[in-house]
Amino acid sequence: MKLSVVLSALSLAFATFTAQAADPIVIKFSHVVAPDTPKGRAAEYFKKLAEERSKGRVKVEIYPNSQLYKDREEMESLQIGAVQMLAPSLAKFGPLGVRSFELFDLPYIFPNKESLYRVMDGDIGKKLFGMLDAKGITGLAFWDNGFKQMSANRPLHALEDFKGMKMRIQSSKVLEAQMKALGANPQVMAFSEVYSALQQGVVDGTENPMSNLYTQKMHEVQKHLTISDHGYLGYAVIVNKKFWDDLPADLRATLDKAMRDTTVFERRIAQEENDEALAKVKAAGTTQIYVLPFKDRVVWQQALLPVHKEFEEKIGRDLIQGAYRVAAEVEKEKAAQPTAPARKSRPGPVKAE
Ligand code: LMR
Repeated sequence: MKLSVVLSALSLAFATFTAQAADPIVIKFSHVVAPDTPKGRAAEYFKKLAEERSKGRVKVEIYPNSQLYKDREEMESLQIGAVQMLAPSLAKFGPLGVRSFELFDLPYIFPNKESLYRVMDGDIGKKLFGMLDAKGITGLAFWDNGFKQMSANRPLHALEDFKGMKMRIQSSKVLEAQMKALGANPQVMAFSEVYSALQQGVVDGTENPMSNLYTQKMHEVQKHLTISDHGYLGYAVIVNKKFWDDLPADLRATLDKAMRDTTVFERRIAQEENDEALAKVKAAGTTQIYVLPFKDRVVWQQALLPVHKEFEEKIGRDLIQGAYRVAAEVEKEKAAQPTAPARKSRPGPVKAE
């Protein structure tokens, strides 16, 4: 054989070997919202940090807008390893058999973001993530979106306004009970189907933070919006446990740190994104915006409180009481601060029994 042939065969073999050695580990990250939302932007931010800091050892492929999977399918695909990373809303863990995450769906449970973060980052958050182990899932971080607002094609001001309204909800039993407590008729539906369901009148209204409402163009098919902040929507960033555990330890540490830094970024932009979305909805002029007055928020809160009691067993009394305690603690700290208290826009913490 000619020397040149041998050499080129060798160099081809070497090139194949190095390409294989350098093949990055692919993390498919699927989600259901638009790229320009808190979750969408944070996914991009994580991709950047992970790829840069791992020096190309991982490649993060992001699939936004339910491109790959819808709500329910994405959980299944994570469990079988078809995707490696998700950030489902905390209202979507029920079908997985982990009902305790519905703690976050309890109406008016968090009087402010401080209490919310303290719950997520403290013992309650740890306990919740611990429950995922048995499902072959590892929880990495809690991301924020914000408080939810109500929208419909008729004004939703007083409790009577909800009577008979078909309201789209996520797959959470707490949200179902919440809508029923308001007198509405809840309909579970995947996020990707909400816009057309609203447009075609399959449902009359829905609830979501402003960033989701605006980026899905729901305001174009909803004449009325009530700024009620009655509930919360956040996310758990989760990975397939086997995939995560099998990563080289140094790489896992790099990704863990990238996720921690992404979480700081995500929580910083969440409120800004929602405030901007509200301004854009205002500017679009398609939707009448009604800010629920404080006295009426208290009326809504009273009507919705029985939902907390109803779900004590399913969610866990200790978790609910723990969240009440955190809220009361934060309130006490705020009251002790020398600055004048801001005008209240949300009812205070629910009284722990
Ligand atoms: C919804 O289904 O309304 C939300 O969970 C979508 C999301 O992920 O923010």
